Amino acid sequence: MNPVFPSILATNFFNLEDKLRAFAAHGIDFIHLDVMDGHFVDQISFGPSLARAIKEKFPFGLDAHLMVSNPEKAVPHFIRAGADWISFHAEAAAEPAGLLRQIRDAGCRAGLVLNPDTPLERLQPYLGALDYILLMSVFPGYGGQSFIPGTLERVALLKKQLGGMDSACLLQVDGGIQPLIAAQLRAAGADLFVVGTSLFNADDIGDKIHQFSNQLHWSRS
Ligand code: DX5
Ligand code: ZN
Repeated sequence: MNPVFPSILATNFFNLEDKLRAFAAHGIDFIHLDVMDGHFVDQISFGPSLARAIKEKFPFGLDAHLMVSNPEKAVPHFIRAGADWISFHAEAAAEPAGLLRQIRDAGCRAGLVLNPDTPLERLQPYLGALDYILLMSVFPGYGGQSFIPGTLERVALLKKQLGGMDSACLLQVDGGIQPLIAAQLRAAGADLFVVGTSLFNADDIGDKIHQFSNQLHWSRS
């Protein structure tokens, strides 16, 4: 699985189909859907209908990152729309354990998201019920922000903790990621990298994906 998950938040939707074709042509396996409700975060982005439209036209896995105040209400819609992975914010869920179970029972991978200022301890009660953890490296709401360097230490700490539990839980990071930052995050223990602006603003998407693959020493063997 290509560890780079392009976020489509950064794109002009009139160019989306061309960009998705370029991603498919250059070995991208998963697309990251930054779902924003205008309440948990300021921006409003898109809903399950876009997930369904992509699923019907492209072979990608879909990773839905729910930046919404009522993830309990949104999760069933994204399950029905064909999302393969669904993550929601620990800061927004009333009862994370039940929602994680609901996502897994539907055959999807379940993830919990922490904002940059939420203590890692918040994950404690759920570590055995998670397929992945998304550590935000920007405050959610907008693409094109700068990477928060303190994320590297959070990744290293969490990776050590998961290693101690012999856990298969994957570590995903989202926000402000460029190829060199991806290399630093990989060295700290991150597994998956959500990338928006760096890819969507690239003159040559194939070359940019190649830069990430080189930095991550990833190739489709
Ligand atoms: C923030 C979004 C962004 C996006 C990545 O709410 O989640 O982090 O996915 O966009 P860039 O790569 O432009 O930060
Ligand atoms: Zn995201």
